[in-house]
Amino acid sequence: MELICPLCGETLEKTEKSFRCPNRHSFDIARQGYVHLLPVQSKRSASPGDTREQVASRRRFLEGGFYEPIARAVTQAALDTGARGEILDIGCGEGYYGAYLASRLGCPLTGVDISKEAVRCAAGKYKEHTWLCASAAHLPVKDGSVALLTALFSVTIPGEFHRVLREGGCFLQVLAAPDHLLGLKSVIYDRLTEKPKDSVPQIPGFSLVKTEPIRFSFTVKGEQVQNLLAMTPHVYRIGPQGAARLRETQTLTDTASCVLNLYRRA
Ligand SMILES: C[S@@+](CC[C@H](N)C(=O)[O-])C[C@H]1O[C@@H](n2cnc3c(N)ncnc32)[C@H](O)[C@@H]1O
Ligand SMILES: [Zn+2]
Repeated sequence: MELICPLCGETLEKTEKSFRCPNRHSFDIARQGYVHLLPVQSKRSASPGDTREQVASRRRFLEGGFYEPIARAVTQAALDTGARGEILDIGCGEGYYGAYLASRLGCPLTGVDISKEAVRCAAGKYKEHTWLCASAAHLPVKDGSVALLTALFSVTIPGEFHRVLREGGCFLQVLAAPDHLLGLKSVIYDRLTEKPKDSVPQIPGFSLVKTEPIRFSFTVKGEQVQNLLAMTPHVYRIGPQGAARLRETQTLTDTASCVLNLYRRA
């Protein structure tokens, strides 16, 4: 995938140990193989995005195979589109879904995440792909260079996504449905409140091709109960009583409920 300099927008050339633009801006390839392309001024905090602990929990949970039905559904939807070429995974986390999809499609993958810990973890395991620490709001990617864009449990930035996708390119989005992980929620919260949520958003510059539910049950035990919590936004909201109840939960059977939306760039 053609990368552009986050400072001046010129094309980046890869050398052995770095990426460089004609204006002499240079970005080192880290020992683990990822590239940091997030300008300091784009950072709202010193270490934005998921923390090292969250990333490690996500890796352990996803490697348990509990969410493979999601990876399979995304792969099938991508195969159905017939889209082939460069894949860009936004908010790629520790790389599980992107690597799964790319290996089955046989297409090159670039994963982008604002968390350095996430791309470090992804690069350590999936060495054949490109991993960038960058913001979805300022993608260091040339206009029209992406065939298939994915964002799973992540952010959607209509303008940037439209810019980087080629004409007719596809965007696959997975969002949690309102009844996602009700089992976990009923352990950690005293009362369940349902916030209205748009599971099939309209995205300017894109037309919705199809939407489908992904729903399945799974059971986690022991440490995987805590890993599941750490992967969700509930980790920020849980109170001491809910945390205590969850610590006592040795086995949790829950239902993952998501929506897969497929859009085409207009
Ligand atoms: C809930 S996690 C999902 C990770 C992965 N897609 C998965 O499902 O395993 C959301 C990810 O988005 C990243 N993220 C949040 N805001 C972002 C942004 N503006 N640009 C790029 N990544 C972002 C976080 O660091 C985190 O890794
Ligand atoms: Zn530059």
